[in-house]
Amino acid sequence: MSKVNVAIIGATGAVGTKILEKLLERKFPLNSIKLLASKRSAGKEIEISGQKFTIEEANPEAFEGIDIAFFSAGGNISEMLAEEAVKRGAVVIDNTSAFRMVEDIPLVVPEVNLDALRQHKGIIANPNCSTIQMVAALEPIREKFGLKRIVVSTYQAVSGAGVEAIDELESQSDQLQSRAEIEAQILPSAAGKKHYPIAFNVIPQIDAFDESGYTLEELKMMNETKKIFGMPNLQVSATCVRLPVVTGHSESLYLEVEDENVTVEDIHEVLRGAESIVLQDDIQTQTYPMPLFAEGKDEIFVGRVRKDPDHANGFHLWIVADNLLKGAALNSVQIAERLVEIETSID
Ligand SMILES: NC(=O)c1ccc[n+]([C@@H]2O[C@H](COP(=O)([O-])OP(=O)(O)OC[C@H]3O[C@@H](n4cnc5c(N)ncnc54)[C@H](OP(=O)(O)O)[C@@H]3O)[C@@H](O)[C@H]2O)c1
Repeated sequence: MSKVNVAIIGATGAVGTKILEKLLERKFPLNSIKLLASKRSAGKEIEISGQKFTIEEANPEAFEGIDIAFFSAGGNISEMLAEEAVKRGAVVIDNTSAFRMVEDIPLVVPEVNLDALRQHKGIIANPNCSTIQMVAALEPIREKFGLKRIVVSTYQAVSGAGVEAIDELESQSDQLQSRAEIEAQILPSAAGKKHYPIAFNVIPQIDAFDESGYTLEELKMMNETKKIFGMPNLQVSATCVRLPVVTGHSESLYLEVEDENVTVEDIHEVLRGAESIVLQDDIQTQTYPMPLFAEGKDEIFVGRVRKDPDHANGFHLWIVADNLLKGAALNSVQIAERLVEIETSID
C-alpha cells in the first residue's frame, strides 16, 4: 500500500472537509481520491487548498478499487455502507459511533493504543472527539503514575454537532443583534423533540438521554475511555455541556492517580515530554489553554494543573483541542498514516 486510493464519505460535512484538508496538507500518499456524500450533493463542486473536487453519491459500487475509506456521514450510513466497502477490499476508518464499542473492532488513538490497530479486520473506529483529547492528555500521566478515577465536565463547541449547528449559532447571533425572534431547530440534538437557543446560552445536554440519566455523549466518553485504556474497571464519570463556541472543545478534569507522592511539577514534567501535548500552564502570566487559540491547531493543550488540597492522589486539569482536527479528522488521518506504514512494512 504505497500509493493509496482513498474515499471520504460525508465529504461535504464539518469533519469530511477537514479530512480532505489534512490528507492534502500532510502529503498523504494518495493515488486517487473520491468524495462521497448524499444524493443532494452529487455533482456539486468543492474547492479545498486551491484544488477543485466533484462530489459523488455514496453507494456500495462507489467503493470498487478503494483502499482506505474514511466514513463521516453519521452512524446509520456507516451501518449501511461500511461492510460494503470492506467487502470490496477497503479498510474503513469510521468517525461515527456505529462500531466503537464492538468488541473486536479497534478503537484507536495512535498516541495511546497504536498496537490495537494491528488487530483490525477491515473496520477501525475513531473515538468520540471529547474522548480523544482526554485520553491522549491522560496517557503520559497514566503510564507514569497509574490512574484510578476520572470525573470530567466538558465545554463543547457547536461544530461538534456538524455544519447545521454552526449555521444555527451564527444565525441566532444575528437574530439577537437585530432583536428578532430566536429560532432553534438543531441543538441540543437534531433528532430530539425539543430545541433550545445556543447563542448566549449553555446547554447541559449533548445527544439523547439514556434511561440511566446520562446522555449518550457522556456514556461514549465513559465507555470509550475504558476500552482505549484497556481498563474495564477504571472509574469514569462525565457531564457533557454545549457552549456557544464555534470550534474547540474544553474539558475540566479531576483525576486520581495511583501514586500518592505525585506533585504538580511531576505532572508538568510528563506532559512537557508527551507526544501531541502542549503544556500551557503559568498563572504568573495568565497562561492557560482556550478554544479560540486551539482552533486550527493539531496539538492538545493542557493547563491549570492543581493538586487537590484534600486528597493526596487528586489533580485538576484543563484540556483544550480542536474537535474537528485531533478530535476527528486528524486522528483519522494519523490512523491511516500508521496503517500505510504497517501494511508497507508487511509487503
Ligand atoms: N463534528 C465533530 O466534531 C465530530 C467529531 C467526531 C465524530 N463526528 C461524527 O462524524 C459524523 C459526521 O459529522 P459532521 O460533524 O461532519 O456532520 P455534518 O457536518 O452534518 O456532515 C454530514 C455529512 O454526511 C453526509 N450525509 C448525510 N446523509 C447522507 C447519506 N444519506 N449518504 C451519504 N452521505 C450523507 C452529508 O452530505 P450532504 O452534504 O450531501 O448532506 C455530509 O457530508 C457524525 O457521525 C459525527 O457524530 C463528528
